Amino acid sequence: MTNPSLLILPGDGIGPEVMAEVRKIIDWYGAKRDLAFDVSEGLVGGASYDAHGTPLTDETMEQAQSVDAVLLGAVGGPKYDNLDFSVKPERGLLRLRKEMDLYANLRPAQCFDALADFSSLKKDVVAGLDIMIVRELTSGIYFGEPRGIFEEGNERVGINTQRYTESEIERVARSAFELARRRGNKVCSMEKANVMESGILWREVVQKVHDEEYPDVELSHMYADAGAMQLCRWPKQFDVIVTDNLFGDLLSDAAAMLTGSLGMLPSASLGAPMANGRPKALYEPVHGSAPDIAGQGKANPIACILSFAMALRYSFDMGDEADRLEKAVEKVLADGVRTADLLGEEGVTPVSTSEMGDAIVAALDASV
Ligand code: IPM
Ligand code: MG
Repeated sequence: MTNPSLLILPGDGIGPEVMAEVRKIIDWYGAKRDLAFDVSEGLVGGASYDAHGTPLTDETMEQAQSVDAVLLGAVGGPKYDNLDFSVKPERGLLRLRKEMDLYANLRPAQCFDALADFSSLKKDVVAGLDIMIVRELTSGIYFGEPRGIFEEGNERVGINTQRYTESEIERVARSAFELARRRGNKVCSMEKANVMESGILWREVVQKVHDEEYPDVELSHMYADAGAMQLCRWPKQFDVIVTDNLFGDLLSDAAAMLTGSLGMLPSASLGAPMANGRPKALYEPVHGSAPDIAGQGKANPIACILSFAMALRYSFDMGDEADRLEKAVEKVLADGVRTADLLGEEGVTPVSTSEMGDAIVAALDASV
């Protein structure tokens, strides 16, 4: 049997330093669990622009299409702010999502007990929180046409288009219902059907998929603005939230902060199954490239490491090994080991990015 293949794209800013810690974890699985991966590495974002004049080369795109899973660090940085829109670092990431057709973006927001005091919300509001945002990732206003900046009379007009087909809504709704069945069996769908036709269609189609295929799952609908308010008021009312590309972008950042730090949260972007039955997949932390702290050993590698745990679970059917890695992270946090984003409490041990990776490897060692 051939080893599962992984393409690693560290990207920009803190991407390479957090990815170096993931490499330690991957190496650990090869050495201690006999789970070897064929790992290749490539460039994306500003790093690719610097080397090739484009945020993603066709060769890297082809490689991403051919591996079992892609693991991405982060893209972007102030150095690239003035580049033409078409070659900005973010375009590389968006091309990967679009061409791999990764329509379901899973963004869990889980509050680790050790960090419950760290949230800006009261402890009882977030302790034990475990929600999953399913964000549609390949359509909506991110990709709709027409788009652009046009001349109109004596001024310019900026245009983007929110557009969803029924089949695009159906497939992401199915992803949400399937996930809910394996969790708390509850889905809340968010749109703005009160002001947008695309929201009216979204609500109708999600309801139809529910009634025809998932009547056993509890479904509710909420306007996205009210959803944002409820997320801050009492987030534990939610299990799975399904929403469009732009609302999902905003709501997932808000949900991430409930848990204390954006440096903690992983994500999985999944598409249709490939010939080998595995879904097309890209895993990445929810956080960005954080150029202000890049290269200083301050970055938290946990979001990227937990993204690899999601790869174990969703691409490689290794749920037990994913549990092992998540427990190792939990143990290290319970021991008071903290990167710079999580300092401020009494009795914690401040560590660098690389020391955090080492601590998680040590916790993995203790688990076998
Ligand atoms: C995210 C990011 C991206 C997005 C950017 C980097 C293009 O904010 O993954 O949430 O807007 O989707
Ligand atoms: Mg975002």
